[in-house]
Amino acid sequence: MQTVYQAVRISEHVYWVGAIDWNVRDFHGYATKSGTTYNAYLVMAEKPTLIDTVRKQFSDEMFSRIASVIDPAEIRYIISNHSEQDHSGSLSLAIERIQPERIYASKMGKKALGEIFHVDGVTAVADGETVSLGDATLTFLETKMLHWPDSMFTYLAEDRLLFSQDGFGMHLATAERFADQLDDSLLEYEGGRYYANILWPYSHLILKLLDRVKALDLAIDIVAPDHGPVWSEDTGRIMDLYARWASAEPSRRALIIYDTMWKNTERMALAIAEGLQREDIPFKVMSLSGNHRSDIAYELFHAGAIFVGSPTLNNNVFPTVIDVLTYLKGLKPRNLVGAAFGSYGWSGESVGQVEAILREMKVGLVSEGIKARNAPDAEVIARCLSLGEAVKKTWDEMQS
Ligand code: FEO
Repeated sequence: MQTVYQAVRISEHVYWVGAIDWNVRDFHGYATKSGTTYNAYLVMAEKPTLIDTVRKQFSDEMFSRIASVIDPAEIRYIISNHSEQDHSGSLSLAIERIQPERIYASKMGKKALGEIFHVDGVTAVADGETVSLGDATLTFLETKMLHWPDSMFTYLAEDRLLFSQDGFGMHLATAERFADQLDDSLLEYEGGRYYANILWPYSHLILKLLDRVKALDLAIDIVAPDHGPVWSEDTGRIMDLYARWASAEPSRRALIIYDTMWKNTERMALAIAEGLQREDIPFKVMSLSGNHRSDIAYELFHAGAIFVGSPTLNNNVFPTVIDVLTYLKGLKPRNLVGAAFGSYGWSGESVGQVEAILREMKVGLVSEGIKARNAPDAEVIARCLSLGEAVKKTWDEMQS
């Protein structure tokens, strides 16, 4: 096989043999504006082992990188840490070409691989189970619901290396393979954006996982996720960021999101912003006609208040607003207060409908929803301006 692509050595036994997807811009609803990587790893032990694969259309790239180190047919084991298609999409092809002695996955992984890819012959491994590769040992850690039921980590003791599938990853296509080659602010932004959009609902499990990893006292010098750069210099940095993100400390920042038909709901949004400004509350205003839901999620991840504006269209919430609210609700944000607002022409159902969704999201309402028939008048604008004071008072009460 022609080896166009080269593997990248990341530790004594391990090579990165993944693929770089520079062009993907939508990842099941998440705007991957920086592309992504699908990281697969080759462990060059006495029993050569492939850890995860890549999205199906990138299989040639993965096989080419493997072939730069070893004839793929010499691989003996394949480990599937996660059955989602971006990591197991090339598994069937890999099985066909490699004819491995064993394929290992978690119990739920075995089930999922059977259901999604009709893959048979997977050996299920239990939490804590080990597999010897001859001169190296793999230990499996079940990480159920981080972020699928099948998810697991694999630890390679000899290289003090943790294969963490989606955990500690980010959607970021770069020529660099290691985090220490990249700017800290870029890592924190892309890592945070990934966390907010993929892992946020499972924060309670992440806190438990971090405690568990600490209790196991595993020596971890390298964290090798399935997306983005490998953490090799300072693994504590990404662990600390996860601990902070997962703990979701209450924040005194506000986010105003809205869409507008004839600028009336927008006038209300800007009056709310002015009220926040007068109270020295940091905030961001995001129109839903110009911002993607995954960027809204990232901003909300750092906020403690949300104000949602929607015009009424045909007796309903405006479509862009319902899209974003549905998405945000699924991410299960916590510790939020806020309010609904919006302009209408004749019936005005949207504000009540938005309020109902905010209640479902357990957002503490600091005010009744504010409605304006057509253009907001002075009274409506005054009510919008007053939300800054209302939210500040609520935060103070929550803290006392
Ligand atoms: Fe990167 Fe859950 O797959």
